[in-house]
Amino acid sequence: MLVLGIETSCDETGVALYDAAATRLLAHAVHSQVAMHEAYGGVVPELASRDHVRRLVPLARGVFERAGRTLADLGAVAYTEGPGLAGALLVGAAFARGLSLALGVPAIGIHHLEGHLLSPLLSARSPRFPFVALLVSGGHTQLMRVEGLGRYALLGETQDDAAGEAFDKTAQLLGLGYPGGPALSRLAERGHAGRYRLPRPMLGSGDLDFSFSGLKTAVMLLVRGSAPNEQFHADVARAFQDAVVEVLAAKCALAMEGTGLTRLVVAGGVGANRQLRAALEARARRDGFDLYYPEPELCTDNGAMIALAGALRLQARDRGADRAGCAFTVRPRWDLAASR
Ligand code: KG4
Ligand code: ZN
Repeated sequence: MLVLGIETSCDETGVALYDAAATRLLAHAVHSQVAMHEAYGGVVPELASRDHVRRLVPLARGVFERAGRTLADLGAVAYTEGPGLAGALLVGAAFARGLSLALGVPAIGIHHLEGHLLSPLLSARSPRFPFVALLVSGGHTQLMRVEGLGRYALLGETQDDAAGEAFDKTAQLLGLGYPGGPALSRLAERGHAGRYRLPRPMLGSGDLDFSFSGLKTAVMLLVRGSAPNEQFHADVARAFQDAVVEVLAAKCALAMEGTGLTRLVVAGGVGANRQLRAALEARARRDGFDLYYPEPELCTDNGAMIALAGALRLQARDRGADRAGCAFTVRPRWDLAASR
């Protein structure tokens, strides 16, 4: 069965075609709106929705073309039902539902984070269930225990800012633009370790929760009143990244120990961070667990992970796919552990 995946929860329009029978991603395309939102220092929801409207059809056409398939080949449409920006979600949902109605194929709404945590299954080296998943994106920081499709238990999560949000806000303090995660990470590579020491929030809390909002305040106090200086900023970026990475790696190790599981999946935009990857690899070697990542291009938001989650849910005869007809809804706020 050929599944079209549609992702429009935030500022990336993602479209993909996944062949469920061949368990193969045929083609995918992502349009990032970053350049459009940059001037505002963050995502402007109305602009995001309008841009999704503009991008979806041409992106979908391109994906069909590259996969060498037509609409007549389509078996189902999967789309992000939530969480995310209401207007942006509605664009993808309306597109997917309209297509499903016109073609007479099922449509299925997918939880965005389920897409992220299943995304390593698209890699050549993919994890078996059960595993622990660290979801680190711009909107979420969670540790989940994943027993199987749809069987997710929340182990811990951030009490305030998400890790990616902390990267972005700190990057802004250092004048790195939006979203600053990748730029901050590049700058940190030129910084000296240990030049400044920032707090490790909740490192010793004994649970699997996180807190990152205090870090940006600590950075703000450090840079306030200082003259802009390239090396100083690089040292601060390094101090910030060291703190975030140490906490994330320590909590992952604690989750592995606590669950007794042997596979850790890292998903979401911050999972692309090189220093985080190196720290987790060191932990994995030391503690004897295996690490799994999505392909680098599938770390951030994309349609492929939504197509995959849709295909798996349809194969498992998920009830969500039966909701035919013209009525549909989106869920801007949606708890993954209480998914359906
Ligand atoms: O998963 P994602 O594409 O979107 C959300 O669902 O949020 O994640 C985007 C987030 C942004 O906060 C971005 O700054 C961060 O991931 N990010 C990074 C890196 N690449 C992306 N943060 C740190 N280091 C990176 N290399
Ligand atoms: Zn995401």
